[in-house]
Amino acid sequence: MTYRPKGMITYKTEAEVALMKDAATLVSKTLTEVATILKPGITTLQIDALCEQFVRDHHAIPSFKNYQGTYPFTICASVNDVVVHGFPNKTELKEGDIVSIDLGVILKGWHGDHAYTFIIGEVDDTVLQLVKVTKESLYKGVEQAIVNNRIGDIGFAIQEHTEKKYGYGVVRELVGHGLGKNLHEDPQVPNYGKRGTGAKLKENLVLAIEPMINMGTKDVFTDKDGWTVRTKDGKPSVHFEHDVCVKRNQALILSDYSIIEAAEKANTNLNTSYY
Ligand code: CO
Repeated sequence: MTYRPKGMITYKTEAEVALMKDAATLVSKTLTEVATILKPGITTLQIDALCEQFVRDHHAIPSFKNYQGTYPFTICASVNDVVVHGFPNKTELKEGDIVSIDLGVILKGWHGDHAYTFIIGEVDDTVLQLVKVTKESLYKGVEQAIVNNRIGDIGFAIQEHTEKKYGYGVVRELVGHGLGKNLHEDPQVPNYGKRGTGAKLKENLVLAIEPMINMGTKDVFTDKDGWTVRTKDGKPSVHFEHDVCVKRNQALILSDYSIIEAAEKANTNLNTSYY
């Protein structure tokens, strides 16, 4: 994400959280469609068209399209060394690729925004581990999204599980964010940090938590297109994102990976052997 913090955190009512769950669920359903049709030979531009149609058929608007007047597509499709914000293109996906599909929608005025990384066919065990650990780290972060914890607890948990434990690179330039009537709201949610620091979490704050984890260096650069973020060393990067509501005892995850994972497991072109 790329936004300037405004110094104002908004908390949602229960009714608003319910609407945000609907928006997040529409994203999950769209990513489930993607999980069903992914195979070698398909292009990310085809996936983009399918997602846009599905979203509009469900009376929602793709929120990334024309974001800040410049993002040209419905999805971000980030393949291999692309960290995030990859433009869909005409290159066919092939066996051994990993692809993060990130989608945002506006449904009844509320934003859903989340991402999932898929593995096409056979890949190195080192890549399987990167995908597995990044997804695990998302849940480590989500666990911290409870009342009276602080923003830094989320990043700390993600960084511990990825950088400290496995030596992976945690991207510093891009962070998670608050979510609501806007795609990017306060507070920023870094995937690194110190325990007990940052804003205190209160009930019904909705966050997009999105670890971007590199197999090698944490350093990234942006392509000439102004959006595509790549690893400096060309090694793979993985991105998972959930929409999460802060609650007293346990974070409430608004997005739904269970339907995506079921479709992923049913699709023999996709590699789920890391589960
Ligand atoms: Co996001």
